[in-house]
Amino acid sequence: MNHSIKMCGPSITQHEKNIILKMMDDGWDSYQYVEEFEERFAKWHDRRFCLMTPCCTHAIHLGLIALGINIGDEVIVPETTWTGSVAPITYTGARPVFCDVEKDNWCLSSDTINTQITSKTKAVIAVDIYGFMPDYMKLEKLCAENNIVIIEDAAEALGSSLRGIRAGKFGLFSVHSFHRTKTITTGEGGALLTDDENFYKRCKFLRDHGRSAEQPYLILEATTKYMPSNLMGAMACAQLDRINELISIKQAIRDRYLSNFEGQDFDFTLTSDNTNFVNGCWATTLVIENEAFNSSSTIKNLAFKGIPLRPFFRPLSSMPAYTNYKNKSNNSNSDWLFKKGITLPSHYELDNNTIDYISDHLLKEIVS
Ligand SMILES: Cc1ncc(COP(=O)(O)O)c(C=O)c1O
Repeated sequence: MNHSIKMCGPSITQHEKNIILKMMDDGWDSYQYVEEFEERFAKWHDRRFCLMTPCCTHAIHLGLIALGINIGDEVIVPETTWTGSVAPITYTGARPVFCDVEKDNWCLSSDTINTQITSKTKAVIAVDIYGFMPDYMKLEKLCAENNIVIIEDAAEALGSSLRGIRAGKFGLFSVHSFHRTKTITTGEGGALLTDDENFYKRCKFLRDHGRSAEQPYLILEATTKYMPSNLMGAMACAQLDRINELISIKQAIRDRYLSNFEGQDFDFTLTSDNTNFVNGCWATTLVIENEAFNSSSTIKNLAFKGIPLRPFFRPLSSMPAYTNYKNKSNNSNSDWLFKKGITLPSHYELDNNTIDYISDHLLKEIVS
């Protein structure tokens, strides 16, 4: 390989450039592109409302403060996720309570959260990790019985669906990320989706300085400001025009990796589909079940060959930022996944030859 292999990154065409240029000419005096995107993105998810935010982390924080999450409350989160799912809980003064994930779909479940529910539990943030989705039907039942709100973090799951329902349709509210590495991107960016009109109105109020609807320069509450720019809105509209194409490219990358690993002499789970579930394949990720396999040495060895691999999400409560929130439960699946999992290059520019090159080198590592 004589070109450098990229881990991930955007797909930018003339279409995005044309829309951005148009925004530059006529888009400084309104939120026209933001509003267009919000309407179309909500519709795409069969949701009633959408609010764009500067990033997904802010969308989560916005939803939590709209819910009134506060000091003394607990919010259950999976060990296996990115800090963006969890840090906003700490901004409110509430306590994140980490629970284990399942070995087969890497997500929390009604079984793993059940032991963590207390009288202080107000919400669960279920994360669609690497595009996989938990069994929301079971989660909904358990949470309804315990009066707990479900929040869906679909930051990694654009294009995934469970029993025909798109990721982003679950929970009182759901969130997406348009970070530069994600399936559709606005550089940084995020969105909150909901079907609840009062909740939407509260989030909209909290997103823009707590202004009075009648008198925009009258401030009713001192709140956050999490407004997106129209520039982000224009980019989001352009990427949304290409959403099906972009998801198909990601799924084709996963399919090529899968065909290279199928039939080989090792057990693995890959970000694949099953009868009830389709994975949007933001980033093809692989868990190798061989006793001897160790992700950190493989990452080092392939880096020498110019192949960038990303480690699986490290259990959050094992990191310095979250040691104060470590609980007594044994989140052993999350520990095991971290040792056995790797994310493979999933950039839009990857061609089949490069995917085969990466697969060959990886296979040598796994079966050696
Ligand atoms: C599962 C998950 N949640 C939240 C976030 C935070 O997204 P953002 O970077 O847009 O704030 C990410 C980002 O990578 C993520 O993967």
